[in-house]
Amino acid sequence: MPIKRICCIGAGYVGGPTCAVIAKKCPDIVVTVTDIMPAKIAEWNSDSLPIFEPGLEEIVFEIRGNNLFFTTDGPKAIREADLIFISVNTPTKAYGAEKGKAPDLSCVESAARLIGKNASGATIIVEKSTVPVRAAESIAAILSAECREDGTSFQVLSNPEFLSEGTAIQDLLSPDRVLIGCESSEAGKLARKELADIYTRWVPEERIVTSNIWSSELTKLINNAMLAQKITCINATSAICEKTGADVSEVAKAVGMDQRIGPAFLNCSIGFGGSCFHKDILSLVYLCKQLSLDEVADYWQMIVDLNELQRRRFCQRIVKSLYGNVAGKKLAIFGFAFKENTGDTRESSAIVVCKHLLNEQAQLAIYDPKVRESQIIRDLQSPGCEFNSSSLKIETCPYEATKGASAIVICTEWKAFKNLNYQKLYDSMESGARWIFDGRNILDHQKLMETGFQVHCVGKALHLQNGRRSSGLTNGHAFPFHNGDH
Ligand SMILES: NC(=O)c1ccc[n+]([C@@H]2O[C@H](COP(=O)([O-])OP(=O)(O)OC[C@H]3O[C@@H](n4cnc5c(N)ncnc54)[C@H](O)[C@@H]3O)[C@@H](O)[C@H]2O)c1
Repeated sequence: MPIKRICCIGAGYVGGPTCAVIAKKCPDIVVTVTDIMPAKIAEWNSDSLPIFEPGLEEIVFEIRGNNLFFTTDGPKAIREADLIFISVNTPTKAYGAEKGKAPDLSCVESAARLIGKNASGATIIVEKSTVPVRAAESIAAILSAECREDGTSFQVLSNPEFLSEGTAIQDLLSPDRVLIGCESSEAGKLARKELADIYTRWVPEERIVTSNIWSSELTKLINNAMLAQKITCINATSAICEKTGADVSEVAKAVGMDQRIGPAFLNCSIGFGGSCFHKDILSLVYLCKQLSLDEVADYWQMIVDLNELQRRRFCQRIVKSLYGNVAGKKLAIFGFAFKENTGDTRESSAIVVCKHLLNEQAQLAIYDPKVRESQIIRDLQSPGCEFNSSSLKIETCPYEATKGASAIVICTEWKAFKNLNYQKLYDSMESGARWIFDGRNILDHQKLMETGFQVHCVGKALHLQNGRRSSGLTNGHAFPFHNGDH
């Protein structure tokens, strides 16, 4: 029987956009998204959606109420559904044993229990959340333990989501691939076909990839770990560049032209953020340790460690450049989201940078085009960050944020930052050395120096001052050639 009703548990960054696109592409299927947070559901049903994604509003506003619904009544949506997506959060455990290491699967478990109690008839359960290998086995066990109704049966599929925040709608409309993992039984293959039949309404058939469930679950973790690794490769290169006079942009350009490597994810920065990379690598490390693969675990762990180092190096560079002291100095922070085109701040490098500077008693004026003030305050008001209300101002205009500041610190690569009037910003800053710390390497540094700025950009020799490029090579870092070396 073709799928007629879909339920999605979890109305977050994955559940919302994914279901909006499915509902848009399949007008004959009723798609209901449910969440335990009434405030979030209320926002999905309002004019102000809980998340920002380019193109999302247009789709939701067009089809909401036709075949796309948002509700807190999970049991009803589950009861009526032929296919149920589990799109709940799977963060790193923040309590108890293995805190900070193991993935927290409590939301997946509660979603599975809810399904087990309420589903009726033959139901396909699709694991969309990112989970450790063999999580589907646990889901299946919970479902059968909870299930009370005669005639109810479940097939669990793995269908990890590869969308990237900021381009989620585009990624969902034109995915590189859709991966579906299933059991090798006939029932498993049939369930896989029913899910594939939904995607093939707009995804070319050759982009539907199938595998066994465990491969599918592992693919998602490895995919994210490899992406994070590529970013970390160029960030580690930036540390070498800063000490030697090599220019990371030049290195990245030439390396990226190698077709085996490619140019994507080679922009060096102050480190990756986002809700996924960090926790998925930790999950992979935990899995390896469980499997007694300690060296493999250490390999993946190093990506997380180097990411921390990259953030730390940037913070230290700011303080060092401002004569080793930022106490009482106003600093304008441009960008708080973990990347452009999203309001998501989870694991954003900006949080680490701002906390460091607040602890050094700087006065911060933060401007981000999409992140809400309440979110910024929540992110900074955590243990280990000390500041009073006069040290932190959230601005809605970059020019206001910069008035009287000693430095501008770019934390997010918003394109809008490239088009600001930097002469005007310069003129409004505190007299004396006026700094730009470009943590995303997005600005025209030569032009900024001509304006009078002192510039530090990640991955370039020390820093660029008033048109003078100071190189590590002149500071005793030149390496001697050994006999026979060329
Ligand atoms: N955000 C991304 O870019 C992205 C991309 C690919 C995969 N993923 C994976 O997808 C999953 C979801 O990520 P997200 O970013 O959408 O998370 P999210 O935190 O934005 O959304 C998850 C939602 O699930 C809800 N929820 C939790 N338990 C529930 C329950 N029992 N019943 C109903 N609702 C429940 C939460 O209230 C929350 O609104 C994670 O496993 C993540 O790793 C995320």
